[in-house]
Amino acid sequence: MHVLHVVGARPNFMKAAPVIRALEHGVRQTLIHTGQHYDASMSDVFFSQLGMPTPDVNLEVGSGSHAKQTADIMDRFEPVLRDACPDVVLVYGDVNSTMAATLVAAKLLMRVGHVEAGLRSFDRMMPEEVNRVVTDQLADLLFTPSEDGDRNLCREGIPIERIHRVGNVMIDSLVRLLPVAQQHKMNGYPQRYALLTLHRPSNVDDPSKLRGILESLLEIAADLDIVFPVHPRTRQRLDVSGMKTAHLHLLEPLPYVEFLALQRRALVVITDSGGIQEETTYLKVPCVTLRANTERPITVTLGTNVLVGQDGSALKSEVRKILDGKGKQGSIPPLWDGNAGARIAQILAKE
Ligand code: UD1
Repeated sequence: MHVLHVVGARPNFMKAAPVIRALEHGVRQTLIHTGQHYDASMSDVFFSQLGMPTPDVNLEVGSGSHAKQTADIMDRFEPVLRDACPDVVLVYGDVNSTMAATLVAAKLLMRVGHVEAGLRSFDRMMPEEVNRVVTDQLADLLFTPSEDGDRNLCREGIPIERIHRVGNVMIDSLVRLLPVAQQHKMNGYPQRYALLTLHRPSNVDDPSKLRGILESLLEIAADLDIVFPVHPRTRQRLDVSGMKTAHLHLLEPLPYVEFLALQRRALVVITDSGGIQEETTYLKVPCVTLRANTERPITVTLGTNVLVGQDGSALKSEVRKILDGKGKQGSIPPLWDGNAGARIAQILAKE
């Protein structure tokens, strides 16, 4: 069997790594990087820490509007896929690369497997939601992380025999590298801190919204250090706006292991990321999410996650509760056990 994996952006890499590893023996594999993320700190360092092979092809599409980025990926991926002619194309998550590669493969009548299928925020303002819906409609094999994913797909008319609940592949990477993160020396960081990430267009693109969020964060920072690895999108917005961030510990984007080490020791994680809601649930670290909805509701129902939207006072009161020891006690969702990649490999072997 020949499996071709497509990755493009930072959150894809920790999802693809365990699947590639699980298929190591007896399967021919090709790895395509679309180049959606291209800075070394957003891409190369993840490949090395996650032990991923060097991509066979990098499409080098870079940044652009959604239409341009998607179109460039499709245009450059099509001849590569025609040449490779794999038995299955595996796509990951919900980034533009995921949807673009799926469209190309479906039109070439190739089988597509979507890893992390079925997640829904029901919010079409999020570009990722559009990517999820399109990808899931076209995929032949839908690998879901949790039961809500199965239900969403059934509601959209996806035949049940295409849906395979395998658990959370991203947690596979976490489980494997947690011992390395535990050994990681945390020199230069405060003893007690909140860890912050912020990059959703809905939070950072509008200067008044970004200013509102920052004002609440600066109030929190009066009591608790805030460590903030800054995504390139957010860095640009901060630079242009000239907003004051002197009381936050701003860092460049961090490698996987360093970020995991910081998450596990944080008193609270404040984020608008998708994957971090899951990682904190696994680590049982309280998470306050700066979004009104989540495509990962299990992190709220079972895990440590609380949604506060863009409400600064809700953010401050949640952080206060956590510091007073009254934060949510979560549990780890079923099948988030480090073996999701192996379950995908077993299903593919029967194909
Ligand atoms: C993308 C994903 C998002 C994911 C995020 C994680 C989509 C629609 N969005 O958002 O789901 O949570 O990745 O990081 O696919 N840039 C750099 N260097 C890079 C990459 C980007 O400087 O290596 C800058 C560029 O100015 C670019 C901007 O960041 O315009 C945004 O990059 P883009 O890939 O368009 O989206 P993300 O915000 O990273």
